[in-house]
Amino acid sequence: MDISIEKKIEDMDISSPPPETEPLRQYWFMKKLRENSSEFQRKKGFRPRAFIQTFGCQMNERDSEKMAGTLEVSGFDISGEEEEADVILYNTCTVRDNASQRVFGRLGVLKGLKDKNPGLLIVLSGCMMQEPTVIEKIKASYPQVDLIFGTHNIYKLAELLYYRISSGSRIIDIWKDEKDIVEALPSNRKYPYKSGVNIMFGCNNFCSYCIVPYVRGRERSREPKDILREIENLVDDGVKEVMLLGQNVNSYGKGLKPEISFPELLRETEKIEGLKRIRFMTSHPKDLSDDLIEVMAGSKKICAHLHLPLQSGSSRVLEAMNRHYSREDYLSIVRKLREKIPDIAITSDIIVGFPTETEADAEETVEVIKEALFDGAFTFIYSRRTGTPAASMDFAMTDEKIHECFDRVLKTVQETARKQTLRFVGRIMPVLVEDVNEKDPEMLTGRIPQNTVVHFKGDRSLIGEIVDVRLDEALGFYYMGTMVRE
Ligand code: 5AD
Ligand code: SF4
Repeated sequence: MDISIEKKIEDMDISSPPPETEPLRQYWFMKKLRENSSEFQRKKGFRPRAFIQTFGCQMNERDSEKMAGTLEVSGFDISGEEEEADVILYNTCTVRDNASQRVFGRLGVLKGLKDKNPGLLIVLSGCMMQEPTVIEKIKASYPQVDLIFGTHNIYKLAELLYYRISSGSRIIDIWKDEKDIVEALPSNRKYPYKSGVNIMFGCNNFCSYCIVPYVRGRERSREPKDILREIENLVDDGVKEVMLLGQNVNSYGKGLKPEISFPELLRETEKIEGLKRIRFMTSHPKDLSDDLIEVMAGSKKICAHLHLPLQSGSSRVLEAMNRHYSREDYLSIVRKLREKIPDIAITSDIIVGFPTETEADAEETVEVIKEALFDGAFTFIYSRRTGTPAASMDFAMTDEKIHECFDRVLKTVQETARKQTLRFVGRIMPVLVEDVNEKDPEMLTGRIPQNTVVHFKGDRSLIGEIVDVRLDEALGFYYMGTMVRE
């Protein structure tokens, strides 16, 4: 916890009305909530317990860390189990339909918990809540939900929760559009040694299958000085690795005054003393510059890993997806990357079964995977999202055919990933130790710069350190290794 934030909350005068400016206004409500929490503790003998479940991407993970920080400074215990919680918060995702269905499924279970603990507050936030049809459905059929907000007002959690508790009635607060970025919120990080850092919010690309631009709003970049200060504070707090987060980091900085490019931001980040590793995601191929490749190639801290979503290997499908690059453009970026950064790992996202996609198109995707030699890829079956342009396009394949193509794509990715993993066997690599191995307490688990997992013998005191490990054996998508130097 940032001590200066803690002090500012402590200094808030809650006998006068809340300030209008952010984040001070939220600090005021955090202090008010602390009073509620103390009252709760006096009555029950323990602090109110909050449980947060995150669905979806790293952006949501980071948002959840901020909400966890807010709840913690507001006097909640956030370390416990869902079954025992007094506040349950789901930070939702809607990128594919199964993510939304999981949330609705869980709400049924929460109803049972609420029957047992009538004081339980159920809170929903995030991308799914930006969809009007979801809100209608919850209003009509899920009376157990107490508080709903979206993606643009996550920073207002303290205020909304305070009003929900004091009014006793359900609050729904969804903003259609984004407003200014609010800095300096408390955060409770999941890992002591690594952290996500938002560099921008929203997306302007409108890929025709994707709901993100509708639920996360237009692209806004954070000021470089705010980003760099946040990273410096994280490093002071023990963080070794940061992941710079944005839907399309390659267009970072547009609209800022003075304008700054993503490679320039990386150069500044590299200068931060004590920071050991820099990662970023996601890169859109259409905006990937030669300058970025140069910065990566010359850097000691930027990891040799690029997540570069392909989506499809067919130029015709890419055009229908509104991706603004062709199969050849994509492959030429990959060639350049592999030439300038020979050890780089390239991972990707692939969609199978996009409307109009034929078996021949899917076969082109298979060819590109083989040629690009992906070190890994997330493969998805297209999911229809209401309101997106692709939702009104027709399918060219049956469900059965789509699944057949999906299996072929997945198998090809597994083959290239396995092959790529073999290339580092025998090498000594720096490994950031992340945890004790789940299955064997004598073993540690960490990651090489390329992001591949390595298991090796070692003491848990090394968690958070970077150690040299010889990669002895590749087992599918991970390594078994031996530590050679601490
Ligand atoms: N259906 C399937 N996959 C999708 N993605 C985004 N929208 C959809 C959709 N409607 C995938 C893309 C993106 C990743 C985060 O999710 O591959 O890169
Ligand atoms: Fe969605 Fe495309 Fe934006 Fe990524 S770049 S969030 S896939 S619209």
